[in-house]
Amino acid sequence: MTSDERSILIIGRHGQVSRSLIELLEAGGQRFTVAGRPEADLRDPQSVRRAILAARPSVVVNAAAYTAVDKAKDEPDAAFAVNAAGAEAAAKAAADVDATIIHFSTDYVFDGSKRVPYVETDPVAPLGIYGRSKQEGEDRVAQANPKHIILRTAWVFSPFGSNFVRTMLRLSVERPEIKVVADQRGNPTFAPDLADLVGKLIPLASASSPDPRIFGTFHAVNRNETTWFGFAQAIIEGAARRGGRDIGVLPIGTKDYPTKAARPAYSVLSTEKLRAVYGLELRPWRDALSDCLDRLAGPPRDEAAEHSQQINRAGKFA
Ligand SMILES: NC(=O)c1ccc[n+]([C@@H]2O[C@H](COP(=O)([O-])OP(=O)(O)OC[C@H]3O[C@@H](n4cnc5c(N)ncnc54)[C@H](OP(=O)(O)O)[C@@H]3O)[C@@H](O)[C@H]2O)c1
Repeated sequence: MTSDERSILIIGRHGQVSRSLIELLEAGGQRFTVAGRPEADLRDPQSVRRAILAARPSVVVNAAAYTAVDKAKDEPDAAFAVNAAGAEAAAKAAADVDATIIHFSTDYVFDGSKRVPYVETDPVAPLGIYGRSKQEGEDRVAQANPKHIILRTAWVFSPFGSNFVRTMLRLSVERPEIKVVADQRGNPTFAPDLADLVGKLIPLASASSPDPRIFGTFHAVNRNETTWFGFAQAIIEGAARRGGRDIGVLPIGTKDYPTKAARPAYSVLSTEKLRAVYGLELRPWRDALSDCLDRLAGPPRDEAAEHSQQINRAGKFA
């Protein structure tokens, strides 16, 4: 079997990025396997290793993570187990079957003190446990497998799971107005656009002699920046154009909306390296938001049933 004939293994089943990727690969008729909880749990590194050795993929995409930014403060062991030790186990097992690992990290590895977009070589200085666990994960993945592509992304939204877009839509039904933080800047990023990007990286990563320049850490976010307030305004306006309630969106400061974990005030990411190395860039976030709202406003779909059919059609490690 040449490496091109081997398949893709996705770690994570119901997350925003994993679901988007499953949808993309399924639509493209590609061979892939999904490894997720309970049988492949990143808190149990051996279970992840078993899944990867059994599937012998050419590319492992680790779309799973401990993503509860505030809760991580109370559960540091769980955050580090999943985001650092678990990610390392996946990268190591991938290396042992000569597979590339594509792994996701976060803008929260930065402290937000810059005022121009962060580049990949900027020093990391996470403000909280989540960011620290992801930063350690980056280091351990890179150490464990020279064939790694680490994609730092940010402010992920999609039609799936819990995310800022779905929260704003829910609040727009429940409340007459919403107050949203206007002094944190970042790049909203659409999970299906990340899946498209991964879909384009897979053939490069699974080539029998990949160009070493394709490996490393890259920033991968939708184009253009905003604040959570600007993002909320665009969501409410877009929803109103599709028949939703046009409620007021008021700007507030971070100090008026205390959270357990601190967030960087500025975590805009430069995607110049992604463009220079791969010739790829993600579209403006407003265009992606429009697609997301169309999908959420479309005819009701049984998303859960469709998703479990997709997983069943894919190989499943059990
Ligand atoms: N969400 C954001 O705003 C954001 C921002 C920056 C970076 N990122 C990064 O982007 C990546 C994808 O995030 P996302 O938004 O798609 O996450 P998500 O929607 O919160 O989904 C998390 C995924 O991780 C899986 N998972 C959690 N604990 C696990 C464990 N112990 N073992 C195996 N799987 C486990 C979940 O499993 P189940 O399938 O069982 O539910 C789920 O599939 C992550 O690396 C995240 O750190 C996200």
